[in-house]
Amino acid sequence: MRRASLLLLLLSSSMSVILQLAAAGANGEDAAALLAFKAAAVDGNGVLASWNASAGPCSWEGVRCSRHQRVVALSLPSHGLSGTLSPAVGNLSSLRTLDLSLNELHGDIPGSLGTLDLSVNTFSGELPGNLTSCTSLQYLVLGSNKLTGRIPAELGDTLTRLQWLGLDNNSFTGFVPASLGNLTSLQALNLGMNMLEGTLPQELGSNMPQLLSLDICANNLHGALPSSLYNLSSLQIFDVGNNKLHGSIPADIGEKFPRLEIFVLINNSFSGEIPSSQSNPTNLSYLDLSENGFSGLVPRDLGRLNALQGLDLDHNMLEAGVTEG
Ligand SMILES: *[C@@H]1O[C@H](CO)[C@@H](O)[C@H](O)[C@H]1NC(C)=O
Ligand SMILES: *[C@@H]1O[C@H](CO)[C@@H](O)[C@H](O)[C@H]1NC(C)=O
Ligand SMILES: *[C@@H]1O[C@H](CO)[C@@H](O)[C@H](O)[C@H]1NC(C)=O
Ligand SMILES: *[C@@H]1O[C@H](CO)[C@@H](O)[C@H](O)[C@H]1NC(C)=O
Ligand SMILES: *[C@@H]1O[C@H](CO)[C@@H](O)[C@H](O)[C@H]1NC(C)=O
Ligand SMILES: *[C@@H]1O[C@H](CO)[C@@H](O)[C@H](O)[C@H]1NC(C)=O
Ligand SMILES: *[C@@H]1O[C@H](CO)[C@@H](O)[C@H](O)[C@H]1NC(C)=O
Ligand SMILES: *[C@@H]1O[C@H](CO)[C@@H](O)[C@H](O)[C@H]1NC(C)=O
Repeated sequence: MRRASLLLLLLSSSMSVILQLAAAGANGEDAAALLAFKAAAVDGNGVLASWNASAGPCSWEGVRCSRHQRVVALSLPSHGLSGTLSPAVGNLSSLRTLDLSLNELHGDIPGSLGTLDLSVNTFSGELPGNLTSCTSLQYLVLGSNKLTGRIPAELGDTLTRLQWLGLDNNSFTGFVPASLGNLTSLQALNLGMNMLEGTLPQELGSNMPQLLSLDICANNLHGALPSSLYNLSSLQIFDVGNNKLHGSIPADIGEKFPRLEIFVLINNSFSGEIPSSQSNPTNLSYLDLSENGFSGLVPRDLGRLNALQGLDLDHNMLEAGVTEG
């Protein structure tokens, strides 16, 4: 009995030595990848000064490790970093969060990265189709860069765990891929301020039960909104302004989007009446239907919405039914 437990003890302690050795090796690879990141970046503010051999990478500024001493997060938003992003970051095999937003990094986005927030940099070029090999990606946030080309259709077929897709304020062209309709875990789909064209695919929305934010504003999208969009019952933010969309608001909009907070149709060709159910969502705080072809009476109850902070119905063919202000 005693022998057996001694053996077990020996076994388990040598196991843990092996595990520690493995972790130390992987930790060394993490350090090498981070040093390659440091070498490619230009660190005007000296935020990477602590990234030196006097201590391991887990104590470096902006780095967070797991209890196995593997780098799981690299988070340096708004730290004045410029230069380029080293593809070696793709070697951080345990990385779950990469937040380099609000810096001035430029150049291409390496095709091998993990969880990404690279918004507000000056990355340019096309979004690599092979980003799609990062199948565990949950946040892909590339807003306010200078990315061009099409949104790769592969995104929707492989990044099935994606919760956040932020490609807004870039120069993407072409259609919104139908495959995005397969991103069933999505909470935010932000494609606004690009040069996307065509109609929205019928697939969009029919299977996105968790979507909170849909932003496709300021593109060149035309046609009617697919009826599947009105299946997004969790939706809080709906912004399709500044496109060439037409059609009418469904009479039961209030029941379709009970959680609605922001609803923006500005500068399209929507027409018909504003349904009275538009005043049902109790948290509606901003409603902008201006510069469309709406007609008829303004529902009286709109003015009674408690949360309402902004209401713009200008430049339609509406008759007064509510006192303005
Ligand atoms: C990244 O991994 C590749 C392939 O394993 C290797 O060749 C390269 O040296 C690594 N780069 C760094 C900076 O660790
Ligand atoms: C190395 O990093 C440590 C903090 O981890 C810092 O105190 C030290 O000044 C750094 N050394 C150099 C040469 O920058
Ligand atoms: C992605 O594609 C580019 C060019 O096609 C290639 O150089 C790179 O190695 C690929 N990366 C991965 C992770 O497959
Ligand atoms: C769009 O991105 C540019 C940088 O490319 C930035 O200067 C600008 O503030 C962004 N606009 C918005 C509305 O986010
Ligand atoms: C969505 O996924 C299903 C199952 O993987 C696939 O058959 C279908 O083609 C995909 N739809 C689009 C539009 O990519
Ligand atoms: C709305 O969702 C239901 C199930 O959640 C589905 O059966 C229906 O086809 C969807 N409608 C549209 C227009 O996508
Ligand atoms: C209205 O939207 C179109 C795109 O459909 C855009 O070109 C135009 O600048 C917008 N007008 C205003 C005043 O923003
Ligand atoms: C309205 O907002 C409050 C506070 O954020 C929230 O608790 C409530 O669930 C919201 N109601 C709806 C219908 O979304």
